[in-house]
Amino acid sequence: MEQLLEKMKVLLATNFAFYLKLHFFHWNVTGPNFPQYHKFFEKLYEDVWEASDGIAEHIRALKGFAPGSFSRFSEMSTIKDQIDVIPAEQMISNAYYDNDRVIEALMAALKLAEQYDEQGLANFLQDRIDTHKKHAWMLRSTMS
Ligand SMILES: [Fe+2]
Repeated sequence: MEQLLEKMKVLLATNFAFYLKLHFFHWNVTGPNFPQYHKFFEKLYEDVWEASDGIAEHIRALKGFAPGSFSRFSEMSTIKDQIDVIPAEQMISNAYYDNDRVIEALMAALKLAEQYDEQGLANFLQDRIDTHKKHAWMLRSTMS
């Protein structure tokens, strides 16, 4: 169970880092397609933001405590922090790459949830994988 909790904490941190980056892109994207990009990043960050709560509450249901500080999140996240504002096209490819990191974290947690026969959690993780595959499709289709 410790292993599953650890994977769930990595997932929470990675998901949160992805959320923050998407919101950062939403704020700072520029260029002739600004309205579309601005709106697109908003749709993405809203979904990823909402998922954080479900992930954290599953950690509590497993009798663990959910991390919730910048320092713990940056230690555990598999997503590279984005400091500089970059061109819109790079934001999209960056988000596509990071979305894959979230899928990896979800898959790692799912494998252990199934091993421990945590069916409710496995369902939740499968739904999230499905949603992130759709995000991948949209991000890929936006790349030139
Ligand atoms: Fe906004």
